[in-house]
Amino acid sequence: MAAPLTVVIFGASGDLTARKLIPALYNLGLKGRLPEGTKVLGVARTENSDAGFRELIAKKLRDAAGAAKEMFDEAKWAEFAANLHYVPTDVTKPDGMAAIAKWFEDREGKGGGQRLFYLSISPELYPQVSDVLGQAGFNKEEGGFRRLIVEKPFGHDLATARALNKSLHANWREDQLYRIDHYLGKETVQNILIFRFANTLFEPLWNYQYIDHVQITVGEEVTVGRRGAYYDGSGVLRDMFQSHILQVMTLVAMESPGRYSADSLRNEKMKVLDGIATPTKITAAKQVVVGQYDGYTKEPGVPAESKTPTFAAVRLECQNGRWKGVPFYLRSGKGLKSRYSEIMIQFRCPPHLMFPLPKDEILQCNRMTLVIQPNEGIKLNFQTKVPAVDGVRLQPRDLSFDYSEAYGEKLPEAYERLLLDAIQGEASLFMRSDEIERAWEIMDPLIAATQGDDAPTPEQYPVGSQGPACATELLGRDGREWQPLI
Ligand code: BG6
Repeated sequence: MAAPLTVVIFGASGDLTARKLIPALYNLGLKGRLPEGTKVLGVARTENSDAGFRELIAKKLRDAAGAAKEMFDEAKWAEFAANLHYVPTDVTKPDGMAAIAKWFEDREGKGGGQRLFYLSISPELYPQVSDVLGQAGFNKEEGGFRRLIVEKPFGHDLATARALNKSLHANWREDQLYRIDHYLGKETVQNILIFRFANTLFEPLWNYQYIDHVQITVGEEVTVGRRGAYYDGSGVLRDMFQSHILQVMTLVAMESPGRYSADSLRNEKMKVLDGIATPTKITAAKQVVVGQYDGYTKEPGVPAESKTPTFAAVRLECQNGRWKGVPFYLRSGKGLKSRYSEIMIQFRCPPHLMFPLPKDEILQCNRMTLVIQPNEGIKLNFQTKVPAVDGVRLQPRDLSFDYSEAYGEKLPEAYERLLLDAIQGEASLFMRSDEIERAWEIMDPLIAATQGDDAPTPEQYPVGSQGPACATELLGRDGREWQPLI
């Protein structure tokens, strides 16, 4: 029988724990996917007891279920909560780990089970907590695995990401480290690979000969809300592009690996990142435009003179034989019209069109849209003949695949997949150190071009809009248009 598993969450009094991590573990438990007897141990500085912690989380789950008009199953929760524990301690203080060591000893004796540590703490503390775990011997795989999950943000730029990797590697082997990008846990993001490599239909077209350009959009309706202080030091390029959007781009652009294994996949993703030319000071200014939603500087925690962008659009190219000259346009922002994320593949137009088009009309050439969220699905837009009209009239129509129609159930939260994978030692959906560093290498010059004294002031855009006009101009320069947010 496998040694008992404990998931230890550092930063247990934080928002992520109550909103995502424990609900994900609870759902995995409900589905019978956690190893028998799995325990969850919350660790934070706040004084609390097992009972108090259980009640605190239960209240949040009840509130969330209420808002979603779902029933919260008290009996099932009680079953899960019996394995939910809490240890109040400050692990950054000398001897801060003693209480955790004692908790384990009381339950497991000297034997030791399997342990998954989750850093859901302030990122400045990652090196220190990783060190104290190492000093207390919590990295030693005696009696079971020891793995460390590290939440984003992973560094603030290339230098800090390198330093963080170095510091983690001082105590952990790379294969013990699981760096989370929750976008990789989304079913629709994983489906990019299945769609491309488990079908014959599209892959022969997936290159510069048939694809004109690619658009990746991650639109958010929410504004920064209570996260102003954190967000202002980060901005949209760090918050959304360095990790989520570049990761999605690697899946769209990569070659098929020989087999589905963490390193084969990550090697291919890394080649995409390598193929993106590092922007220079001169090119960066032409590759990125930024905006800020109206009223951002009045958000709590945001300085009145802040130039932090809440929207950006970026143009990148991947320089290899498959993607020669194909632009990838990436955009993301807060305070937009809707929460809507998609990948749009714009195919080239037919080399010759024999059908006459009405004056001033241009042909909308084939588009494929992979909708990441919400209303997850795939749409293929193609031309049709309008029936029963004089002559030939063309009109684009969609062929649609809808995830919920096809599978009839709510897609699981990304954290469910990622926590389960980390428990099972499956690292394909986690980022390797070299990917993270290369992503920063690409983003740093773009960030530099939008910050500092000579940087342009971000263009204001109204909350609830499609974003600033500069994004339209970025594509307009290439004679292209964004597919509007819906
Ligand atoms: C996080 C960012 O990583 O992703 C947030 O820090 C952002 O600013 C969030 O809102 C978006 O995630 P999702 O899953 O809601 O699209």
